[in-house]
Amino acid sequence: MKYVIGVDLGTSAVKLLLVDELGSIQYEVSKSYPLIQEKNGYSEQNPEEWVKETLSGLKELVKQGPALDNEIEGISFSGQMHGLVLLDEKNNPLRHAILWNDTRTTAQCNEIYEKVGEQRLLGITKNPALEGFTLPKLLWVKQNEPHLFKQAKSFVLPKDYVRYRLTGELAMEYSDAAGTLLLDMNAGEWSRELCQILDIDASICPPLVASTDQTGTLLQEAADLSGLSPHTKVFAGGADNACGAVGSGILEDGKTLCSVGTSGVVLSYESSNHKDFGGRVHYFNHAAPEAYYTMGVTLAAGYSLNWFKDVFASNESFEQFAYGVENVPAGSNGLLFTPYVAGERTPHADAGIRGSFIGMDRMHSRIEFVHAVMEGITFSLNESIEIFRNNGKQIDTIISTGGGAKNEYWLQMQANVFNANIVKLSSEQGPGIGAAMLAAYGCGWFASLQSCAEAFIKVDRTFEPEKEKVEEYIQLFKIYQQVYTQTASLNEQLAHYRK
Ligand code: XUL
Repeated sequence: MKYVIGVDLGTSAVKLLLVDELGSIQYEVSKSYPLIQEKNGYSEQNPEEWVKETLSGLKELVKQGPALDNEIEGISFSGQMHGLVLLDEKNNPLRHAILWNDTRTTAQCNEIYEKVGEQRLLGITKNPALEGFTLPKLLWVKQNEPHLFKQAKSFVLPKDYVRYRLTGELAMEYSDAAGTLLLDMNAGEWSRELCQILDIDASICPPLVASTDQTGTLLQEAADLSGLSPHTKVFAGGADNACGAVGSGILEDGKTLCSVGTSGVVLSYESSNHKDFGGRVHYFNHAAPEAYYTMGVTLAAGYSLNWFKDVFASNESFEQFAYGVENVPAGSNGLLFTPYVAGERTPHADAGIRGSFIGMDRMHSRIEFVHAVMEGITFSLNESIEIFRNNGKQIDTIISTGGGAKNEYWLQMQANVFNANIVKLSSEQGPGIGAAMLAAYGCGWFASLQSCAEAFIKVDRTFEPEKEKVEEYIQLFKIYQQVYTQTASLNEQLAHYRK
């Protein structure tokens, strides 16, 4: 039997999948690492932790899994997007990585708009300046830690750094490069214009490769530490959302994905990069060759639910915590939640907004709060679906993946809020399986990613919208949509008190 490995370098953990040539996951390992949050709005990680945990996960996978080391032909990566890993001349990280959910860079986003102009920025990158993207982080380090920035010789994104440590080859692939806000999407190359206007030496931008390109084999040291053969082929991989799309078969026009992980996304395949969404949704390169995707992002999706559980039920299992949630009616008996606990991206690009519970009543019990949190996250995702529909996209079927797809009640709630069929896959390992598919295709097992998807992806169940609940949710969504505007100024005033 032949095998490939898909490595998904997430925000809370690295998940590794050993996948055979039939697309079955034969072994999986997850190794977690901490978030470093020194101040409100800051979110960092130590790149060394990623490397250490990835190598230890690989070792476990090779030792405990059924594959012999020489049967594992290839490995590829999916990774949390946008995080800045700044490297010195020896390619050592100069500081901790500043992650996608770090929102310290509002001033730098404003600077980008002032110097470049909103329309020109959209013209070059197809995207607005958002705190989470990499370019504002580069500018932040340049302005706040000039002694470090002077030593910077290049930068990469999280999974590119791990791949570099395994292969010794430094490169960034397009699906992640698109999320830096430095890529000229039309030309498919780094934007010299942006570098020049913002006074960034263009030589710090690493070489660009395609997601399916082979970027070497394993260094002897990495092979020794992991137990893999040094001949294992390493493929570039993709951004987690791009790999999630590959792993869910979002490989042709008309296909839509909803994924609830730490963040939540609604993602739609695009065969060209010429559409105009005016920056209301992100527009990035796909991991599939010559393809793109548009995407709306809820910054704190699964994160909101985990936050609520950590604060109010830290010693319970998720099952205990959510016990009875299916008995709570639509609208949580008059309780509404907005999941802005870490700011928001789509449709409100606002790092300063914070979450609310509206309508708290003395009769409410904890399970209604849990239900309201699930509804609030789903409403937020529905805002992205609405943007797509208003732009003429027909969305009647959505593949749903991520932690959110593990709970069947939540999938039915998605069908009712989105008013669309929700498809659950038998393996909802989205990004990791997508990375494994990039390796399987790269190894030549399939003629195209589509044929790989046909072999690897299986549908488990479809959840259909329930008419009555759909009607109720249409009304509730209208109330939900008002909360942002009605609380924006209150949150601005409260910002002063956040430490
Ligand atoms: C997308 C984004 C998040 C991260 C999560 O723009 O910031 O979905 O990719 O890992």
